Amino acid sequence: MRENLLKLKESALQELSCAAGKEKILDIKTRYLGRKGELSSVIKEMGKLLPEDRPVIGDIANSIKAEIEQKINSLLNKIHEEEQFARIAAESVDVTLPGRHLPSGHIHPVTLVMDEVKEIFIGMGFDIAEGPEIETDYYNFEALNMPKDHPARDMQDTFYIGNNFLLRTHTSPVQIRVMEKNKPPLRVIAPGTVYRRDSDITHTPMFHQVEGFMVDEEITFGDLKGILTLFLHKIFFEDTRVRFRPSFFPFTEPSAEVDIQCVICGGRGCRVCKMSGWLEILGAGMIHPNVFKAVNYDPEKVSGFAFGLGMERIAMLKFGIDDIRLFFENDVRFLRQF
Ligand code: FA5
Repeated sequence: MRENLLKLKESALQELSCAAGKEKILDIKTRYLGRKGELSSVIKEMGKLLPEDRPVIGDIANSIKAEIEQKINSLLNKIHEEEQFARIAAESVDVTLPGRHLPSGHIHPVTLVMDEVKEIFIGMGFDIAEGPEIETDYYNFEALNMPKDHPARDMQDTFYIGNNFLLRTHTSPVQIRVMEKNKPPLRVIAPGTVYRRDSDITHTPMFHQVEGFMVDEEITFGDLKGILTLFLHKIFFEDTRVRFRPSFFPFTEPSAEVDIQCVICGGRGCRVCKMSGWLEILGAGMIHPNVFKAVNYDPEKVSGFAFGLGMERIAMLKFGIDDIRLFFENDVRFLRQF
Protein backbone atom coordinates (compact mmCIF):
# COMPACT_ATOMS: atom_id res chain seq x y z
CA MET A 1 0.00 0.00 0.00
CA ARG A 2 2.91 2.29 0.76
CA GLU A 3 4.21 1.74 -2.76
CA ASN A 4 0.77 2.42 -4.21
CA LEU A 5 0.60 5.69 -2.33
CA LEU A 6 4.09 6.74 -3.46
CA LYS A 7 3.26 5.84 -7.08
CA LEU A 8 0.06 7.84 -6.81
CA LYS A 9 2.01 10.82 -5.53
CA GLU A 10 4.58 10.53 -8.32
CA SER A 11 1.95 10.31 -11.01
CA ALA A 12 -0.09 13.23 -9.56
CA LEU A 13 3.01 15.47 -9.34
CA GLN A 14 4.09 14.38 -12.81
CA GLU A 15 0.67 15.26 -14.27
CA LEU A 16 0.65 18.57 -12.43
CA SER A 17 4.08 19.52 -13.75
CA CYS A 18 2.78 19.26 -17.32
CA ALA A 19 -0.71 20.68 -16.64
CA ALA A 20 -1.44 23.81 -18.66
CA GLY A 21 -4.26 25.99 -17.39
CA LYS A 22 -6.54 26.24 -14.41
CA GLU A 23 -9.12 23.78 -15.73
CA LYS A 24 -6.59 21.02 -16.23
CA ILE A 25 -5.25 21.52 -12.65
CA LEU A 26 -8.75 21.43 -11.15
CA ASP A 27 -9.44 18.27 -13.12
CA ILE A 28 -6.30 16.62 -11.65
CA LYS A 29 -7.36 17.75 -8.18
CA THR A 30 -10.74 16.04 -8.56
CA ARG A 31 -9.23 12.88 -9.97
CA TYR A 32 -6.66 12.47 -7.18
CA LEU A 33 -8.06 14.20 -4.10
CA GLY A 34 -11.84 14.20 -4.76
CA ARG A 35 -14.26 12.11 -2.65
CA LYS A 36 -14.27 9.45 -5.33
CA GLY A 37 -10.65 10.16 -6.32
CA GLU A 38 -7.66 7.85 -6.39
CA LEU A 39 -6.31 8.77 -2.93
CA SER A 40 -9.72 8.07 -1.35
CA SER A 41 -9.82 4.64 -3.03
CA VAL A 42 -6.41 3.74 -1.54
CA ILE A 43 -7.41 5.05 1.89
CA LYS A 44 -10.58 2.96 1.81
CA GLU A 45 -8.33 -0.13 1.55
CA MET A 46 -6.70 0.74 4.92
CA GLY A 47 -9.31 -1.31 6.75
CA LYS A 48 -7.59 -4.39 5.42
CA LEU A 49 -4.24 -3.46 7.06
CA LEU A 50 -2.95 -4.70 10.37
CA PRO A 51 -3.98 -2.29 13.16
CA GLU A 52 -0.34 -1.35 13.93
CA ASP A 53 0.32 -0.47 10.26
CA ARG A 54 -2.74 1.78 9.93
CA PRO A 55 -1.31 4.94 11.65
CA VAL A 56 1.92 4.70 9.66
CA ILE A 57 0.10 4.39 6.32
CA GLY A 58 -2.41 7.05 7.49
CA ASP A 59 0.47 9.48 8.12
CA ILE A 60 1.94 8.75 4.69
CA ALA A 61 -1.47 9.24 3.00
CA ASN A 62 -2.00 12.56 4.81
CA SER A 63 1.43 13.90 3.94
CA ILE A 64 0.97 12.85 0.27
CA LYS A 65 -2.42 14.57 0.23
CA ALA A 66 -0.86 17.73 1.75
CA GLU A 67 2.02 17.67 -0.72
CA ILE A 68 -0.32 17.36 -3.74
CA GLU A 69 -2.63 20.06 -2.34
CA GLN A 70 0.29 22.41 -1.79
CA LYS A 71 1.51 21.88 -5.34
CA ILE A 72 -2.00 22.49 -6.71
CA ASN A 73 -2.44 25.68 -4.63
CA SER A 74 0.91 27.09 -5.65
CA LEU A 75 0.12 26.44 -9.35
CA LEU A 76 -3.35 28.06 -8.99
CA ASN A 77 -1.86 31.08 -7.17
CA LYS A 78 0.68 31.52 -9.94
CA ILE A 79 -2.08 31.47 -12.58
CA HIS A 80 -4.16 33.93 -10.54
CA GLU A 81 -1.18 36.29 -10.26
CA GLU A 82 -0.51 36.09 -14.01
CA GLU A 83 -4.17 36.85 -14.76
CA GLN A 84 -4.04 39.88 -12.45
CA PHE A 85 -0.89 41.21 -14.08
CA ALA A 86 -2.46 40.81 -17.54
CA ARG A 87 -5.62 42.65 -16.39
CA ILE A 88 -3.69 45.54 -14.84
CA ALA A 89 -1.55 45.87 -17.97
CA ALA A 90 -4.69 45.99 -20.14
CA GLU A 91 -6.39 48.56 -17.90
CA SER A 92 -3.42 50.86 -17.49
CA VAL A 93 -3.88 54.53 -18.45
CA ASP A 94 -1.28 56.32 -20.51
CA VAL A 95 -1.35 59.76 -18.90
CA THR A 96 0.93 61.16 -21.60
CA LEU A 97 -1.67 60.65 -24.40
CA PRO A 98 -3.16 63.92 -25.73
CA GLY A 99 -6.80 64.56 -24.64
CA ARG A 100 -9.77 63.79 -26.92
CA HIS A 101 -11.41 66.83 -28.51
CA LEU A 102 -15.10 67.09 -27.60
CA PRO A 103 -17.18 68.95 -30.18
CA SER A 104 -18.70 72.05 -28.60
CA GLY A 105 -21.94 73.85 -29.52
CA HIS A 106 -22.28 77.30 -31.06
CA ILE A 107 -24.16 80.35 -29.90
CA HIS A 108 -27.16 80.84 -32.21
CA PRO A 109 -26.69 83.81 -34.60
CA VAL A 110 -29.87 85.48 -33.30
CA THR A 111 -28.55 85.18 -29.72
CA LEU A 112 -25.20 86.63 -30.85
CA VAL A 113 -26.98 89.69 -32.26
CA MET A 114 -29.30 89.98 -29.26
CA ASP A 115 -26.28 89.96 -26.91
CA GLU A 116 -24.51 92.63 -28.98
CA VAL A 117 -27.61 94.85 -29.03
CA LYS A 118 -27.97 94.52 -25.24
CA GLU A 119 -24.32 95.35 -24.70
CA ILE A 120 -24.53 98.53 -26.80
CA PHE A 121 -27.62 99.82 -24.94
CA ILE A 122 -26.25 98.85 -21.53
CA GLY A 123 -23.19 100.93 -22.50
CA MET A 124 -25.56 103.89 -23.04
CA GLY A 125 -27.03 103.47 -19.56
CA PHE A 126 -30.19 101.48 -20.40
CA ASP A 127 -31.63 98.92 -17.94
CA ILE A 128 -33.08 95.57 -19.07
CA ALA A 129 -36.73 94.62 -18.39
CA GLU A 130 -38.75 91.54 -19.28
CA GLY A 131 -42.44 90.76 -19.70
CA PRO A 132 -44.63 87.69 -20.24
CA GLU A 133 -44.94 86.06 -23.67
CA ILE A 134 -48.60 85.24 -22.99
CA GLU A 135 -50.16 88.69 -22.67
CA THR A 136 -53.59 90.12 -22.06
CA ASP A 137 -55.42 92.08 -24.74
CA TYR A 138 -55.07 95.13 -22.48
CA TYR A 139 -51.25 95.23 -22.39
CA ASN A 140 -50.68 94.14 -25.99
CA PHE A 141 -53.28 96.51 -27.53
CA GLU A 142 -55.59 98.62 -25.37
CA ALA A 143 -53.04 100.35 -23.16
CA LEU A 144 -51.01 101.03 -26.32
CA ASN A 145 -53.80 103.19 -27.71
CA MET A 146 -55.45 100.37 -29.70
CA PRO A 147 -58.96 99.91 -28.29
CA LYS A 148 -61.06 96.92 -29.46
CA ASP A 149 -61.98 97.15 -33.16
CA HIS A 150 -59.16 99.66 -33.76
CA PRO A 151 -58.07 99.05 -37.40
CA ALA A 152 -54.36 99.15 -36.41
CA ARG A 153 -54.81 95.75 -34.70
CA ASP A 154 -54.84 94.25 -38.20
CA MET A 155 -51.23 95.40 -38.69
CA GLN A 156 -50.16 92.43 -36.55
CA ASP A 157 -51.87 89.06 -37.18
CA THR A 158 -52.41 87.72 -33.71
CA PHE A 159 -52.47 84.23 -32.14
CA TYR A 160 -55.35 84.45 -29.62
CA ILE A 161 -55.74 82.16 -26.61
CA GLY A 162 -59.43 82.53 -25.78
CA ASN A 163 -60.99 86.03 -25.64
CA ASN A 164 -58.63 87.83 -23.35
CA PHE A 165 -55.22 86.20 -23.73
CA LEU A 166 -52.85 86.13 -26.69
CA LEU A 167 -49.22 85.48 -27.62
CA ARG A 168 -47.69 88.96 -27.55
CA THR A 169 -47.23 90.32 -31.07
CA HIS A 170 -44.49 92.77 -30.04
CA THR A 171 -42.39 93.76 -27.02
CA SER A 172 -44.22 97.11 -26.64
CA PRO A 173 -46.46 95.82 -23.77
CA VAL A 174 -43.31 95.80 -21.62
CA GLN A 175 -43.35 99.64 -21.89
CA ILE A 176 -46.70 99.64 -20.09
CA ARG A 177 -45.67 97.11 -17.44
CA VAL A 178 -42.46 99.04 -16.62
CA MET A 179 -44.14 102.49 -16.57
CA GLU A 180 -46.98 101.20 -14.35
CA LYS A 181 -44.45 100.19 -11.71
CA ASN A 182 -41.82 102.95 -12.04
CA LYS A 183 -41.67 106.72 -12.24
CA PRO A 184 -39.52 108.63 -14.77
CA PRO A 185 -36.70 109.09 -15.58
CA LEU A 186 -36.61 105.72 -17.39
CA ARG A 187 -34.11 104.32 -19.86
CA VAL A 188 -35.04 100.70 -20.58
CA ILE A 189 -34.67 97.99 -23.21
CA ALA A 190 -36.92 94.90 -23.27
CA PRO A 191 -35.61 91.99 -25.35
CA GLY A 192 -37.88 89.02 -26.02
CA THR A 193 -39.72 86.56 -28.21
CA VAL A 194 -42.87 87.64 -30.06
CA TYR A 195 -45.41 85.82 -32.24
CA ARG A 196 -47.45 86.61 -35.37
CA ARG A 197 -49.35 84.63 -37.97
CA ASP A 198 -46.72 85.37 -40.61
CA SER A 199 -44.44 83.17 -42.72
CA ASP A 200 -42.29 83.91 -45.79
CA ILE A 201 -38.59 84.57 -46.53
CA THR A 202 -38.51 87.66 -44.28
CA HIS A 203 -41.21 86.71 -41.72
CA THR A 204 -41.53 83.82 -39.24
CA PRO A 205 -44.38 83.07 -36.78
CA MET A 206 -41.94 83.39 -33.85
CA PHE A 207 -39.21 86.04 -33.87
CA HIS A 208 -37.29 88.34 -31.53
CA GLN A 209 -37.57 92.03 -30.82
CA VAL A 210 -35.79 94.48 -28.60
CA GLU A 211 -38.02 97.28 -27.39
CA GLY A 212 -36.35 100.44 -26.16
CA PHE A 213 -37.77 103.54 -24.51
CA MET A 214 -36.66 106.63 -22.66
CA VAL A 215 -38.96 108.83 -20.60
CA ASP A 216 -38.13 112.05 -18.74
CA GLU A 217 -39.18 115.69 -18.61
CA GLU A 218 -37.62 117.01 -21.80
CA ILE A 219 -37.01 114.10 -24.15
CA THR A 220 -37.21 115.14 -27.79
CA PHE A 221 -37.22 113.56 -31.23
CA GLY A 222 -33.60 114.74 -31.42
CA ASP A 223 -32.74 112.36 -28.55
CA LEU A 224 -34.43 109.51 -30.41
CA LYS A 225 -32.45 110.29 -33.58
CA GLY A 226 -29.17 110.59 -31.68
CA ILE A 227 -29.52 107.33 -29.72
CA LEU A 228 -30.72 105.27 -32.70
CA THR A 229 -28.08 106.65 -35.08
CA LEU A 230 -25.34 105.92 -32.54
CA PHE A 231 -26.72 102.40 -32.04
CA LEU A 232 -26.91 101.68 -35.79
CA HIS A 233 -23.35 102.94 -36.32
CA LYS A 234 -22.13 100.60 -33.57
CA ILE A 235 -24.01 97.48 -34.71
CA PHE A 236 -23.25 98.01 -38.44
CA PHE A 237 -20.50 100.41 -39.57
CA GLU A 238 -19.34 103.80 -38.33
CA ASP A 239 -20.23 105.38 -41.69
CA THR A 240 -23.56 103.54 -42.36
CA ARG A 241 -26.06 106.17 -43.55
CA VAL A 242 -29.33 106.32 -41.60
CA ARG A 243 -32.64 107.96 -42.58
CA PHE A 244 -35.91 108.55 -40.70
CA ARG A 245 -39.16 108.27 -42.68
CA PRO A 246 -42.59 109.34 -41.42
CA SER A 247 -44.73 106.32 -40.49
CA PHE A 248 -47.63 105.31 -38.27
CA PHE A 249 -47.89 103.40 -35.01
CA PRO A 250 -50.92 103.95 -32.75
CA PHE A 251 -48.69 104.15 -29.65
CA THR A 252 -46.29 106.85 -30.96
CA GLU A 253 -46.85 110.33 -32.40
CA PRO A 254 -45.03 111.35 -34.50
CA SER A 255 -43.87 107.91 -35.70
CA ALA A 256 -41.00 106.96 -37.94
CA GLU A 257 -39.53 104.02 -39.70
CA VAL A 258 -35.76 103.97 -39.79
CA ASP A 259 -33.81 102.79 -42.82
CA ILE A 260 -30.09 102.15 -43.19
CA GLN A 261 -28.11 102.30 -46.36
CA CYS A 262 -28.08 98.74 -47.79
CA VAL A 263 -25.12 96.97 -46.15
CA ILE A 264 -25.04 94.38 -48.94
CA CYS A 265 -24.56 96.71 -51.95
CA GLY A 266 -23.45 99.91 -50.16
CA GLY A 267 -26.52 101.78 -51.49
CA ARG A 268 -26.00 101.05 -55.19
CA GLY A 269 -29.13 98.86 -55.39
CA CYS A 270 -29.41 95.06 -55.20
CA ARG A 271 -31.89 92.16 -54.79
CA VAL A 272 -31.88 92.46 -50.98
CA CYS A 273 -32.80 96.19 -50.93
CA LYS A 274 -35.06 95.73 -53.98
CA MET A 275 -32.86 98.18 -55.92
CA SER A 276 -33.76 101.05 -53.54
CA GLY A 277 -30.36 101.27 -51.80
CA TRP A 278 -32.12 101.38 -48.38
CA LEU A 279 -33.27 98.76 -45.85
CA GLU A 280 -36.00 99.25 -43.26
CA ILE A 281 -34.62 98.27 -39.89
CA LEU A 282 -36.93 99.46 -37.10
CA GLY A 283 -40.05 101.33 -36.04
CA ALA A 284 -39.93 104.23 -33.58
CA GLY A 285 -41.59 107.43 -32.41
CA MET A 286 -42.48 109.76 -29.55
CA ILE A 287 -44.67 107.97 -26.98
CA HIS A 288 -48.35 108.89 -27.53
CA PRO A 289 -50.07 110.96 -24.78
CA ASN A 290 -52.77 108.27 -24.50
CA VAL A 291 -50.10 105.70 -23.57
CA PHE A 292 -48.86 108.02 -20.78
CA LYS A 293 -52.45 108.46 -19.57
CA ALA A 294 -52.88 104.64 -19.39
CA VAL A 295 -50.00 104.48 -16.89
CA ASN A 296 -51.01 107.60 -14.95
CA TYR A 297 -48.17 109.79 -16.24
CA ASP A 298 -49.00 113.42 -17.02
CA PRO A 299 -48.30 113.94 -20.79
CA GLU A 300 -48.00 117.68 -20.09
CA LYS A 301 -45.04 117.01 -17.81
CA VAL A 302 -43.23 114.03 -19.32
CA SER A 303 -42.20 113.06 -22.81
CA GLY A 304 -40.36 110.08 -24.23
CA PHE A 305 -39.46 108.02 -27.24
CA ALA A 306 -39.79 104.31 -28.01
CA PHE A 307 -38.51 101.98 -30.69
CA GLY A 308 -38.79 98.32 -31.68
CA LEU A 309 -36.01 96.37 -33.39
CA GLY A 310 -36.38 93.03 -35.20
CA MET A 311 -33.39 90.86 -34.21
CA GLU A 312 -33.65 88.42 -37.16
CA ARG A 313 -33.68 91.37 -39.59
CA ILE A 314 -30.43 92.70 -38.09
CA ALA A 315 -28.84 89.20 -38.06
CA MET A 316 -29.78 88.71 -41.75
CA LEU A 317 -28.04 91.95 -42.69
CA LYS A 318 -24.99 91.43 -40.50
CA PHE A 319 -24.36 87.88 -41.74
CA GLY A 320 -25.69 88.25 -45.32
CA ILE A 321 -28.52 85.69 -44.93
CA ASP A 322 -31.35 85.96 -47.45
CA ASP A 323 -33.96 83.59 -45.92
CA ILE A 324 -35.09 84.17 -42.30
CA ARG A 325 -36.35 80.57 -41.99
CA LEU A 326 -32.74 79.29 -41.97
CA PHE A 327 -32.46 80.56 -38.37
CA PHE A 328 -35.06 78.08 -37.14
CA GLU A 329 -34.40 74.96 -39.22
CA ASN A 330 -31.61 73.87 -36.83
CA ASP A 331 -29.41 72.65 -39.67
CA VAL A 332 -26.00 72.29 -38.02
CA ARG A 333 -24.23 72.97 -41.34
CA PHE A 334 -25.77 76.46 -41.16
CA LEU A 335 -25.36 77.02 -37.40
CA ARG A 336 -21.71 75.85 -37.37
CA GLN A 337 -20.70 78.91 -39.44
CA PHE A 338 -21.23 81.37 -36.58
C1 FA5 B 1 -43.66 96.87 -33.98
O1 FA5 B 1 -43.71 95.69 -33.64
C2 FA5 B 1 -43.67 98.00 -33.01
N1 FA5 B 1 -44.04 97.50 -31.70
C3 FA5 B 1 -42.31 98.65 -33.00
C4 FA5 B 1 -42.33 99.98 -32.28
C5 FA5 B 1 -42.00 100.02 -30.97
C6 FA5 B 1 -42.70 101.15 -32.94
C7 FA5 B 1 -42.01 101.22 -30.26
C8 FA5 B 1 -42.74 102.36 -32.27
C9 FA5 B 1 -42.39 102.38 -30.95
P1 FA5 B 1 -43.34 96.29 -36.51
O2 FA5 B 1 -44.58 95.51 -36.65
O3 FA5 B 1 -42.91 97.12 -37.66
O4 FA5 B 1 -43.41 97.25 -35.26
O5 FA5 B 1 -42.15 95.29 -36.14
C10 FA5 B 1 -40.86 95.76 -35.78
C11 FA5 B 1 -39.77 94.91 -36.47
O6 FA5 B 1 -40.01 93.52 -36.19
C12 FA5 B 1 -39.80 94.99 -37.99
O7 FA5 B 1 -39.04 96.09 -38.43
C13 FA5 B 1 -39.16 93.70 -38.40
O8 FA5 B 1 -37.76 93.80 -38.32
C14 FA5 B 1 -39.58 92.74 -37.31
N2 FA5 B 1 -40.68 91.85 -37.74
C15 FA5 B 1 -41.99 92.11 -37.85
N3 FA5 B 1 -42.68 91.01 -38.20
C16 FA5 B 1 -41.78 89.99 -38.30
C17 FA5 B 1 -41.85 88.60 -38.60
N4 FA5 B 1 -42.99 87.98 -38.81
N5 FA5 B 1 -40.71 87.87 -38.62
C18 FA5 B 1 -39.54 88.48 -38.34
N6 FA5 B 1 -39.38 89.78 -38.03
C19 FA5 B 1 -40.50 90.53 -38.01
